[in-house]
Amino acid sequence: MPRPRQLFVTTALPYANGNFHIGHIMEYIQADIWVRFQRMHGSQVHFVCADDAHGAPIMIAAQKAGKTPQQFVADIAAGRKPYLDGFLISFDNWHSTDAPENHHLAQDIYRCLKKEGLIKTRVIAQFFDPEKNMFLPDRFIKGECPKCGSKDQYGDNCENCGAVYSPTELKNPYSALSGATPVLRDSEHHFFALSDPRCVEFLDAWTSEYGHLQSEVYNKIKEWLNPNDSGHRELGDWDISRDAPYFGIEIPDAPGKYFYVWLDAPIGYLASLQNRFAKLAGDARQGEADFKAFLADPATEQYHFIGKDIITFHTLFWPALLHFSGRKTPNAVFVHGFLTVNAEKMSKSRGTGLDPLKYLSLGMNPEWLRYYLATKLTPRNEDIEFNPEDFMTRVNADLVGKYINIASRAAGFISKRFAGKLGAISPDGSGLLDTLRESQEPIAQMYEAREFSKALRETMLLADKVNVYVDANKPWELAKKPGMEERLHDVCTVCIEAFRLLTIYLKPVLPALALKVEAFLNSPPLTFALADAALPAGHTIGDYKHLVSRVDAGQLEALFAAADPVEHAGSATKNISIAATGVARTPANEALAPTIGIDDFAKIDLRIAKIVQCEAVSGSNKLLRLTLDVGETDDAGQSRLRNVFSGIASAYQPEQLVGQLTVMVANLAPRKMKFGISEGMVLAASHADEAKHPGIYILNPWPGATPGMRIH
Ligand code: MSP
Ligand code: ZN
Repeated sequence: MPRPRQLFVTTALPYANGNFHIGHIMEYIQADIWVRFQRMHGSQVHFVCADDAHGAPIMIAAQKAGKTPQQFVADIAAGRKPYLDGFLISFDNWHSTDAPENHHLAQDIYRCLKKEGLIKTRVIAQFFDPEKNMFLPDRFIKGECPKCGSKDQYGDNCENCGAVYSPTELKNPYSALSGATPVLRDSEHHFFALSDPRCVEFLDAWTSEYGHLQSEVYNKIKEWLNPNDSGHRELGDWDISRDAPYFGIEIPDAPGKYFYVWLDAPIGYLASLQNRFAKLAGDARQGEADFKAFLADPATEQYHFIGKDIITFHTLFWPALLHFSGRKTPNAVFVHGFLTVNAEKMSKSRGTGLDPLKYLSLGMNPEWLRYYLATKLTPRNEDIEFNPEDFMTRVNADLVGKYINIASRAAGFISKRFAGKLGAISPDGSGLLDTLRESQEPIAQMYEAREFSKALRETMLLADKVNVYVDANKPWELAKKPGMEERLHDVCTVCIEAFRLLTIYLKPVLPALALKVEAFLNSPPLTFALADAALPAGHTIGDYKHLVSRVDAGQLEALFAAADPVEHAGSATKNISIAATGVARTPANEALAPTIGIDDFAKIDLRIAKIVQCEAVSGSNKLLRLTLDVGETDDAGQSRLRNVFSGIASAYQPEQLVGQLTVMVANLAPRKMKFGISEGMVLAASHADEAKHPGIYILNPWPGATPGMRIH
């Protein structure tokens, strides 16, 4: 037996300033499929991630929320589990870049680089906000574009004409934090000397070594590494320091200086791994020793799954940091493209109309999404698109129609007619099963190469063959013919064995389903190696229970329906669907929804409502329970009040709202929520870019309006 492979696998560490969007989930699903495949193949895997906690934007967002940055990121971290469990993501550890392990590792790596002579300091002039008393990150400086004169442009590029410049070139610059005019101030910065010939030589070699990078990624990276026509390299020294106040890790022997967040973020991969070993050992010191031994072992393989927007950090800065601090470098960086939903681009802070938690709360099966995304995922850096109709077809026609049906058509006969026992297989069935078994190796190789789309295509072709066999043999007819008992047993046994093989091939994608199948078949956990070990004649299987249902069009409709502020606590307009064709733009550069006629508008019955009562909802820090008077009375003339939940607890204290008038959608179908039934929804405004512009504002009519008046 060869020694099992030992793998250290990560996904990018998400910024701890917001909940996951569907793009994050896609990345986790891609990595999780690969990891589960490796585990099924007997590899030992440490699959880890962490929150990326540091940086100026998080510090500023925390300030605005009235929290310490530590509390702010802890609150975000507390919300991760429902997503990860919900989509069956099997991380072995989740940590934070603000954890002690990361402070130690980052400082240690820095000391090593310094010893190598690869840390330089230089004084640079930067914009400083005299009111906030801090240096301003580029994205917090705004002004007029030096080229086209557009107002309110960011410090690094113009959204109007596309010009790229440095913040000091802006005309009439102002601080986006205080509005003050920034002043130029000198500060000493620390640099990682990537222009040093040793670094250039190392990176030339590392990036071009076969297997480290996908070819399209390597071609991109070469633009940075290779000198251009005038002999200049894009890749200069990297500014790794920031001045206090900053939420980050202190630079040793440099008071008031912190590591730039992108220095310590990837080191968080190591910190999470070290923390994993500490948990395994039940002791921090032993854990650290095991962690070091694991990374020092030449057999250890290290892989990072990331998106295309963070390539330079992972293929240049990160390998160089590791190499020049005497550490193991990655075996490969796997770059994926972006997921778009209904052709809509994802916003970093808002995501898209496909809200992962809403998907789960609608009772949609997480394995549908895993399956669908897997049919689209390739090892290349290319974007993929979530298309609702396509989603429904793939799941209903392929997953359920081709694969699940094989078991559902055969299992009943085995239990009813043969006491649950499998029979012997005749030559035609053996031939079919041999064909299925021959695909084991090729499909395994496709998973290894992250060719998930191909692996599923191949598996569905095999399912087609099985269905041809079923249709040719018609077990439902055999069951009615006298004397065909043995043939029926044979055919159904072939179907069950074929179903078992297909389940092996699908297990990395559909782990929960595979678990149910294992229980149904009375089988040990399925692995690729078990493909060769057919269930023997006489083996008893369990009763077939319904395995996966079909997607219902109504579920997709509900998923993409405009957000219901009641349910989408804390982000009232988060999920409003956006027309790809819209020309008008709102402040967050968010296109307007498609044009509707007055008839469409008339369908929505908006009424003035009086908030008669308001209270916190125990068990939810987002919702308030409102009791609303919309001027309705029942048959007996008693006034009828409505119960409505609204995600506005972050913005209002209950007592502020009692007695106020507001606007509600009065003809929205009642909705059952965890805390009770919500009979309508109150309207509230929020900025599309919540991270930068937090705040929720409920509507309040001018004086004179009374409860029950309609809004036209
Ligand atoms: N914090 C950094 C990563 C630090 S890694 C040491 C970061 N965070 S992020 O939250 O913005 O993004 C996390 C990951 O999600 C990245 O790999 C990013 O490419 C990926 N995605 C963000 N939007 C995405 C899509 N629309 N589709 C697929 N992946 C996307 O960057
Ligand atoms: Zn411009």
